[in-house]
Amino acid sequence: MEVVIQPDAAAVAVFGADIIDRLISTKPGAVLGLATGSSPLGVYDELIRRCVASTLSFEDATAFLLDEYIGLPPGHPASYRVFIEQHFTGRVDIDASHVHVPDGAADDIVAACHDYEQRIRDAGGIDLQLLGIGADGHVGFNEPTSSLASRTRVKTLTPQTRSDNARFFDNPDEVPHHVVTQGIGTILEARHLLLIANGASKAGAIAKAVEGPVTSMCPASAIQLHPHVTVVIDEAAAAELTLAEYYRDTFAGKPLWQSS
Ligand code: F6R
Repeated sequence: MEVVIQPDAAAVAVFGADIIDRLISTKPGAVLGLATGSSPLGVYDELIRRCVASTLSFEDATAFLLDEYIGLPPGHPASYRVFIEQHFTGRVDIDASHVHVPDGAADDIVAACHDYEQRIRDAGGIDLQLLGIGADGHVGFNEPTSSLASRTRVKTLTPQTRSDNARFFDNPDEVPHHVVTQGIGTILEARHLLLIANGASKAGAIAKAVEGPVTSMCPASAIQLHPHVTVVIDEAAAAELTLAEYYRDTFAGKPLWQSS
């Protein structure tokens, strides 16, 4: 695992965008795993800027979202399908038919979850999975005690996550209780995990995910089981890391031959 501590959220965004830019430049048809929420927004803005400047193109890329709410009417502004269109996919040149979102409105949600897993397999698997992290250590919507082998399925949000996400809704009571999310097992099959976090509210979760025991009580700690993980965080999110100095030194002295 590589832990990269950047001075601020703006630098985190550029560093994260550089990683995706390098992937798309070497593999234009790459399969991206996308996260929603606030954490990746800076990365998306930077990628949009590069796309508008015609230095980067997503026209051959495919994308799979991590998760979606269950029970929101189609087109609801807080649905992750609308969110990702507004904040990323609708503002770059990716083909809209190549953007896959778990179906939170399916009549048969279980079948839709199996179908989502199959679509990821049919696309050749995810090359790079962008991740945020919840204050309780969730990734995707895999809340604490999620099986570390889980696949795409229905989960129930914790009161903390519902309250954290209430800012995206007019009324906090509107935040759904249920979601569809890629499982931890699904996420771990992506070839590269890129976890982004900013701010003091994420410091505890980052310390547990990176340095704590691998435990379903902190689902993000499962990233320790993956052979290619890049954690890009600002100083505030790094505040509780025991080995922060080691990560800074390692990054500063990184040999040119070592890949990102
Ligand atoms: C969203 C997702 C969630 C968020 C997490 C952090 O697709 O998968 O795990 O990444 O809830 O949310 P923010 O970034 O809003 O703090």
